[in-house]
Amino acid sequence: MEFLAEYDAIPTADAPGRVGLLRRRMKADGPALLRELRERRPVFVTPVGVFVTRMADVMEVLSTPDVFTVGVYGPALEEALHGPFMLARDGADVHWHDRAHAQLMLPAEDVAPVRRLTARIADDALDRAVAVARMEGRTTFDYVQEYAAPVAARVAREYLGFTDVPEETLHTLSQRVQRAVFVNQERDPEVHASGVAAGKELHDVVAGVIARRRAVGTGPGTGAAGGTGAAGGRPADGSAQHEATPDDVLGRMLRASLPPGTGRELDDERINHQLVGYLIGYQQNAAQCAATALKELASRPDELARAERAAADEDTAVFDGYVWEALRFHPFVPSTPRLCVRDHVLAAGTPRATPLAPGTVVHAHLASAMFDGTVVEEPYAFRPDRTPVHNLVLGHGAHDCVGKYPARAIVPETVRRVLLRPGVRPLPGAVRDLDYAGTPYPQHYTVTAGATASS
Ligand code: HEM
Repeated sequence: MEFLAEYDAIPTADAPGRVGLLRRRMKADGPALLRELRERRPVFVTPVGVFVTRMADVMEVLSTPDVFTVGVYGPALEEALHGPFMLARDGADVHWHDRAHAQLMLPAEDVAPVRRLTARIADDALDRAVAVARMEGRTTFDYVQEYAAPVAARVAREYLGFTDVPEETLHTLSQRVQRAVFVNQERDPEVHASGVAAGKELHDVVAGVIARRRAVGTGPGTGAAGGTGAAGGRPADGSAQHEATPDDVLGRMLRASLPPGTGRELDDERINHQLVGYLIGYQQNAAQCAATALKELASRPDELARAERAAADEDTAVFDGYVWEALRFHPFVPSTPRLCVRDHVLAAGTPRATPLAPGTVVHAHLASAMFDGTVVEEPYAFRPDRTPVHNLVLGHGAHDCVGKYPARAIVPETVRRVLLRPGVRPLPGAVRDLDYAGTPYPQHYTVTAGATASS
């Protein structure tokens, strides 16, 4: 039976019955359920919030932060970060200031150096994974554990500046925080406590990194970010002590100062919250996207062959289109919740206009919006040359991804290095077999161990 017919047949008073059906159907076949909603009930009012499924309405929710705030997960995020952060707040204070600061620390000029850094780290990881597989007499390796996760963590270390922090620490701690804040919508106390404890560990690790950096001076060196940011450039005195600190994002933050009178001091605690917040916004996203993009491409052999040819081109614009289109079919953030804080009519002036009261939770379904046939041409066709306007993989509006420039380099390049490597491909017959191992994140994905770069 179609979802809505079955849902409507359950009496309104039986909220648990309706919610149970909604959860079961979403789990069993989310895309089919969302398609039905988009076509028949695009603003769907349920006991667990309002599901918003069309592009225009998702954009409205995400672009109106004085009505729709991040209050659903904001408090949990700040508890885990042990301090204020932009993705936990709206308005003139923390969000506006921290975003301005972040835009200077994560500038568009980073795209080329971060892409080169990712290529180096990814090639090295592929060499290692293939070599270890051969040494152990295996013909496959685990793409998530031996490639996507460590590559993302090593880029975080070298670009963001988590100097000397083990890859495993960055990956597992950030996963616990991510899960507690963004996945744990029921606020299960055990998952929440685990995330808060992981956030504290990250905070303390970063406090140590910052203290060591301060001890040797905070001038720019020759690190991955290459002095490209607003805070980049060599100090006037050119002292040797300044050479000791890599010019990564943390190095920039340690050197930067805000104009006097802005009211928010850039002290080491605030830098700590920013850096850990960046890791939470990045690590799981990058590792998962590298896996799901490859899975979506490998599921379409003709597109995969075209993507392989595009990967060989030095101008990566065409290739990148394949990766972002692949991610449209499997985004890291399929839906993001917002808290309605004042009376508002959503989609005013349309047949789906819906009055919303303060306190209503609204689920902005990014994954659904990207398949909205009223604005996206042939939404179910794989088209790598689509306009980026309809690609919401990096979010939209007031809280869209402030790390979008590095993300646009890291994610496609991590996939590209694989497609440039003959023989490293998802296992035939199992190209869609991401193994989540009972967690919300892909943990294993088997790929064939092809040739090393030198063989
Ligand atoms: C690697 C792939 C990435 C993906 C798929 C991704 C995705 C997203 C999405 C969907 C949002 C919006 C969340 C929402 O509206 O609830 C977001 C926000 C954010 N992202 Fe990313 N992101 C990526 C990389 C990064 C990187 C590299 C950084 C920083 C180094 C970063 C930092 C952030 C921050 C701080 C926000 C919140 C911005 C705000 O509150 O104004 N992300 N990201």
